[in-house]
Amino acid sequence: DASDIEKGTYPHYMLKEIDEQPAVIRKIIQTYRNEQGELTIDREIIDAVNEADRIYIIAAGTSYHAGLVGKQFMEKMAKIPVEVHISSEFGYNLPLLSKKPLFIFISQSGETADSRSVLVKVKELGYPALTITNVPGSTLSREADFTLLLHAGPEIAVASTKAYTAQIAVLAVLAEVTAKSNGIDIGFDLSHELGLVANAMDVLCDSKELIEIISREFLSTTRNCFFIGRGLDYYVCLEGALKLKEISYIQAEGFAGGELKHGTIALIEDGTPVVALATQEKVNLSIRGNVKEVVARGANPCIISMQGLNMDEDSFVLPEVHELLTPLISVVPLQLLAYYASLHRGCDVDKPRNLAKSVTVE
Ligand code: G6P
Repeated sequence: DASDIEKGTYPHYMLKEIDEQPAVIRKIIQTYRNEQGELTIDREIIDAVNEADRIYIIAAGTSYHAGLVGKQFMEKMAKIPVEVHISSEFGYNLPLLSKKPLFIFISQSGETADSRSVLVKVKELGYPALTITNVPGSTLSREADFTLLLHAGPEIAVASTKAYTAQIAVLAVLAEVTAKSNGIDIGFDLSHELGLVANAMDVLCDSKELIEIISREFLSTTRNCFFIGRGLDYYVCLEGALKLKEISYIQAEGFAGGELKHGTIALIEDGTPVVALATQEKVNLSIRGNVKEVVARGANPCIISMQGLNMDEDSFVLPEVHELLTPLISVVPLQLLAYYASLHRGCDVDKPRNLAKSVTVE
């Protein structure tokens, strides 16, 4: 049928969508660039961002995880304070809002009911809203004042992959263009750096055989798995753990390296897999310290290091990209680890049990 044709030679949509990520990043650079080669976004959107004294990002699931990274971009590049909220919580537990809030809804489908009900409330209160979505004309797009599109193409697999990286890339563009509009020099050329990210993603997509071996070694029989990281790596750990849970049914948790000792380290036993991300120079030694702590308790570590920060012989090494953009590439091996774990355990990769691609009930 038609859906088989769309999948082409791929055994699963998820694998196809992982592989599409470099092209999606290139498409985003191309779409958001003007004739002078500068990144650009509709003036009215940038004005709305600049009029706000605080941004509230509202999202669910993987889109929430992209929002956590987006907060760092908006604060570090554009110097605008940002809060990130889970839509189902925000709906009935409104925080004290700033005087001039702008709401940004992040949603692959644009149909998530929990997010939509927040948008309805926001509009009742008369606040401006921007939706970042993959689906033009979706409910969240129609009901918001402004829309930015992901240009990721249809995402079919329930576990979101290319939409996550597209969301992060579009949030980076939004942060850069906002910064520029305020005369802030972010200190690097974002479209050039995103091009390098796309190239690095190509390299990672070509490392499938190695990642399949690692996945077989670490995840084929385990009942749980931990992901640890600090700073941006922590947010990616949340996403890596979610991917693994969703499609392989392995109990997985993403943790901030420093929080381990406050409870979770009690769960480490002989052979417990711990995936550690090390892409941030500032916290490189601290995360290495956390790896030592878990190894001392019997953990089986899988270290994923940025080139240049690598300190172990058997680390999986990520090609170097700008340190703010590492989530775009460190997530790729985590997506592939989850994919192969699901495959090896005989799970339904594209249609995991109990889950829906788009949850249209609250
Ligand atoms: C569902 C999907 C997740 C997704 C979440 C939010 O739970 O299974 O993959 O992250 O909804 O979806 P959205 O379309 O709003 O990004």
